[in-house]
Amino acid sequence: MTGSFETQSGNPRQAANFDLDRIRRETLVRQVEFHPEIGSTNSRALELVAAEHLIPLLVLADRQTAGRGRGKNRWWSGEGALTFSLVIDAAAAGIPANRWPNVSLAAGLAVAETVASLISIADVRLKWPNDVFLNGRKVCGILLETASQRPGILVIGIGLNVNNSFHTAPEDLKSLAISLADAGGTSWNRSDVLIAVLRQLEESLSVFRADSCQLPERWRARCYLHGRTVQVQSGQFGAGSDSITGVCQGIDDEGALLLQTESGVVRCYSGIVAKIL
Ligand code: BTN
Repeated sequence: MTGSFETQSGNPRQAANFDLDRIRRETLVRQVEFHPEIGSTNSRALELVAAEHLIPLLVLADRQTAGRGRGKNRWWSGEGALTFSLVIDAAAAGIPANRWPNVSLAAGLAVAETVASLISIADVRLKWPNDVFLNGRKVCGILLETASQRPGILVIGIGLNVNNSFHTAPEDLKSLAISLADAGGTSWNRSDVLIAVLRQLEESLSVFRADSCQLPERWRARCYLHGRTVQVQSGQFGAGSDSITGVCQGIDDEGALLLQTESGVVRCYSGIVAKIL
């Protein structure tokens, strides 16, 4: 079994300016599958989970044509974006099943900390549960999935706006999204950015495994919603009331969003932020 390969002809070491050998050498990744174009790296990763592959496995695309977001959302990314899915074995990584949902928070934190280290003047925040905001606009989305046939295998899908500028995008999108190139005024080598994210993610996961309070302290420090009034939609509130509104008090050690409501503090363990009021 080879460690890195392309799905079309070409030099396997340099795929669309990605240095696959370097990615494998310098990160936790043991196998890379690169696609010049694919529908969704997460969908492909879920297919691969069924077969024997070296894990951690990276599915990387130069372009994604049908990227998926949470729920029914699509993930649209223009040329120059970084789109990939990292497949990890939670048990081998020492992550117990009750902490799997927190992996998206740990991944978001890793991206946020990487972005902050690349663009030091930027304000980089983690928007619970799985978005990264840069200067008040979304720069990254994360989609964590498990394969039904191998539940302990986690697929961490990350879409990071790197060189895909939003300067010429329609006004409504421009006010919501941003790329590293937009914020830093320069383009980036995507291998460098990817390697930096993967190394930071490896660090986050090892701290996570150690079960120290360091990670919660770090995700609290970057909480985008802190102090804002938000409406969270979640199945956890029972039939008839699937949403709750309150002032965000941060994120607790278990990764739950804390909302101060009229009837006290409510912990949201899962859900989506439907509105920021
Ligand atoms: C969201 O914002 O709702 C999550 C977006 C996740 C997008 C990434 S891009 C790479 C990976 N493949 C997908 O189809 N989705 C994730």
